[in-house]
Amino acid sequence: MTHFKTTIFAMTLVATAAFAHDGVQNEAVHARMTAMETIGANMKILAGMAKGQSAFSADAANAALVAISDTATTIPALFEAQEDDPKSEAADEIWTNWEDFVAKAVDLETVTSPANGISDMAGLAAAMATLGGTCKACHREYKL
Ligand code: HEC
Repeated sequence: MTHFKTTIFAMTLVATAAFAHDGVQNEAVHARMTAMETIGANMKILAGMAKGQSAFSADAANAALVAISDTATTIPALFEAQEDDPKSEAADEIWTNWEDFVAKAVDLETVTSPANGISDMAGLAAAMATLGGTCKACHREYKL
């Protein structure tokens, strides 16, 4: 992928993120959706490299991993209060199964910890598989 296309791709992500939050009134819901968007945007950076749409860079891959890990640490605090908004896709089960929800956030933090750094394409593929599993495990139970 050329530098120009990469820039367009990054701009598309930003535009999508802004659009997804249109009409969210509740600030707490907005904040947790923004955190998830950050996680999603960094996941897309990894996916782009894994699919060969952008050149592999261990530095960029690890930066994305750290960004996801850092954001994962904020999930419990962002979701702790049971806030709602018509645009929210958060399931009520988050607050009835709170400890399990937090454990799933910690799982994401663990698999993206700097100790699990990516050094080559095989490592990237392995990281993507593990990471994707943690997103799905939580979304399956707690995202509408
Ligand atoms: C601990 C649970 C949990 C984990 C782990 C998790 N998510 Fe989420 N995610 C949620 C919940 C809950 C919502 C819905 C939030 C809302 O709408 O209020 C959500 C929403 C999202 C959204 C939509 C945000 C928006 O603006 O509407 C994206 C994108 C997303 N997650 C990406 C990811 C990716 C990618 C991963 C894995 C790398 C991941 N999530 C891991 C719980 C989780």
